[in-house]
Amino acid sequence: MDKMSSPPSEPTSDRVLDATLRPEAWEEYVGQENIKENLHVLIAAAKERAHTPEHTLLYGPPGLGKTTLAHLMAKELNANMRSTSGPVIERVGDLAAILTNLEPGDVLFIDEIHRLHKTVEELLYPAMEAGKLDIIIGKGPSARTIELALPPFTLVGATTRIGLISAPLRSRFSGGVFQLEFYSEKEIEKILRRSARILGIEAEKEAFEEIAKRSRQTPRTANYLLKRSRDVAQLERSPLSKAVAEKALAMIGIDAAGLTPSDRKILDALITKFAGGPVGLKTLAAAAAEEEQTIEEVYEPYLLQQGFLERTPRGRVATVRAREHLGKEGVQKTLPR
Ligand SMILES: Nc1ncnc2c1ncn2[C@@H]1O[C@H](COP(=O)(O)OP(=O)(O)OP(=O)(O)O)[C@@H](O)[C@H]1O
Ligand SMILES: [Mg+2]
Repeated sequence: MDKMSSPPSEPTSDRVLDATLRPEAWEEYVGQENIKENLHVLIAAAKERAHTPEHTLLYGPPGLGKTTLAHLMAKELNANMRSTSGPVIERVGDLAAILTNLEPGDVLFIDEIHRLHKTVEELLYPAMEAGKLDIIIGKGPSARTIELALPPFTLVGATTRIGLISAPLRSRFSGGVFQLEFYSEKEIEKILRRSARILGIEAEKEAFEEIAKRSRQTPRTANYLLKRSRDVAQLERSPLSKAVAEKALAMIGIDAAGLTPSDRKILDALITKFAGGPVGLKTLAAAAAEEEQTIEEVYEPYLLQQGFLERTPRGRVATVRAREHLGKEGVQKTLPR
């Protein structure tokens, strides 16, 4: 049950890096001030009542710090964190086993909670609401339901796809439903400096700034780019300067706006094959040779946020900014490797 599945397109080395660089204390968790404040109140008030905090749902694009927040909550509560994820819980019995094995006060973290099977999800309702499990024993006319009291626990759900969370599930997160925001460049710089310290990387101020500018406002990406830049600096026997960072970023195809080859491929398909759109997600995914789900979860949020893409009722549309950007990056459009 400790299996954690990764979203598509995240290299595993990234995940290892996640664990190494994961903030261990609230002071190290940069930004998301509003969420932090809300969680502090939720936790402090629950502690005063000698009660478990209410169930909480965290949502936002990959790499913004949802899992990290769940860890920090468990830590502040002095509680164990039990981690699992939606697709791993295949049967009702799997969830029943997880729930009945909880210790009082545990934090149960369910990642990718939008991918829970319907029947499993329904078992969760009474567990969240009333701390009980309804188990049906037997079949046909002799079937009966027994009720099992569960130890008090706090469910922390995480999802990249809030739109796929059913209304009944969403409404049971009485502790709050929190949306993580993209980070400012200043915040990313702060995260980079901390990561550099932990990894023993010395970098020039301008290098931090350059990496921060191009990291999709996402801590995980920033840390990944820092490491790639360090590799180049090391092989060149050179300090990690802005020039070295630029070279490293160019090598992995990250352009001046922080777009990846895949981002550009999506925008390029939209512009050259569909005259800028509108075009449906399915068609766009086929043309760009990407999974629909990956476009929606991984690429699109940043493209939308940066104004490269718009979503209309009739489909995706490339903006003027996207056309200008691809024009400028025309040479880079074909992938560097
Ligand atoms: N606010 C933050 N301050 C400092 N570092 C952060 C912050 N948020 C995330 N990170 C860094 O980014 C990494 C990725 O964060 P995390 O695993 O929590 O993201 P996530 O939202 O759970 O992503 P996914 O949706 O892919 O599961 C962390 O290991 C940590 O190193
Ligand atoms: Mg996570």
